[in-house]
Amino acid sequence: MTGQGKVASLPKKSNSPATDLLSWYDRNRRDLPWRSRPGEAPDPYHVWLSEIMLQQTTVATVMPRYQAFLERWPTMATLAAALLDDVLHEWQGLGYYARARNLHRCAGVVNREYGGVFPDTESGLHALPGIGEYTAAAIAAIAFGKVTAPVDGNIIRVISRLEKIETPMPAGKKQIEAAVEAMVPAYRPGDFAQAMMDLGAMVCTPRNPKCNECPWAEGCRVHGSGEEDRFPVKKPKQSKPTRHGTVFWLVDGDGRVLLRRRPESGLLGGMMEFPSTEWEEKQTPNGEVLQQAPPYAGKWQALEGEVKHTFTHFHLRLTVWKARVGTCASLPNGYWVFPNDFGNHALPTVMKKVAGHLDKAG
Ligand code: ADE
Repeated sequence: MTGQGKVASLPKKSNSPATDLLSWYDRNRRDLPWRSRPGEAPDPYHVWLSEIMLQQTTVATVMPRYQAFLERWPTMATLAAALLDDVLHEWQGLGYYARARNLHRCAGVVNREYGGVFPDTESGLHALPGIGEYTAAAIAAIAFGKVTAPVDGNIIRVISRLEKIETPMPAGKKQIEAAVEAMVPAYRPGDFAQAMMDLGAMVCTPRNPKCNECPWAEGCRVHGSGEEDRFPVKKPKQSKPTRHGTVFWLVDGDGRVLLRRRPESGLLGGMMEFPSTEWEEKQTPNGEVLQQAPPYAGKWQALEGEVKHTFTHFHLRLTVWKARVGTCASLPNGYWVFPNDFGNHALPTVMKKVAGHLDKAG
């Protein structure tokens, strides 16, 4: 007990990480158009619309588009009644149009099946078109005050530094989710989610984080180590193998070139290509290429140079062989196409490169 009138020198009160973050948020929050002001109830329609727009798109890009969208369709009912084409048109500049289609579908479902009112649970939200795990958690927390938190790239960065999580992503995401779950406060979970977003965007940035402004610096296991940039830890890149193949560029008497359609499943499924050998890691010597079934017997001539392309799992180097035929028989799955018409066929980038190589090498 301290004596009367004497000011006790109490140890500094240690707040929970959530309280520290919320008081930082109260002083530093971004003023974003979809956010309710302190003391104001959030509007689930605004929260949902902004979260869909913010999927894979920056806040700066979304701001003006959000305002324009909301002026045109201020409520769920007006959006549900809109023409899809108008919605797609208004989505210009936001990219990934599947999101706009799902947005419109979702408005229809909520209007028809839920009387225009969103379900207020994370699982109910997740069942709606276009609402994935992250978005369901964000809406549940921000619009409905559910004790949950979304975990995206920004939040992964913040928490992986705070807790010094060495497990590389994506495997480390489970640990991050558990750490976040343990921190979400029962009080103001929506603000907590938005505070983590703001912290990731403004303070705990990918490069040169502003640790001197961070409300979590004291408890951060990486702070002061100079290793901030190493987190989140990424899996070392697997070195990609290189595959080789030969493409057969066959021109008929009218100048049309033979295309064929790739099988529906697998790499570049259903797209068009110039016929080629298999793409393999072993290189076939030039002398053996013609045994690998070019589409016609003819006077095949190898062009100088190679076409290079990189897919997710391998590099590809293609040699191109060229031949002319006078009359052409039809081939199963084959199409004779004038080069001017290539644009009307689904040619993948690698095949566009082959056509470009022909232009250069003749
Ligand atoms: N990114 C995704 N959702 C967001 C939100 N509600 N505020 C700011 N950035 C976000």
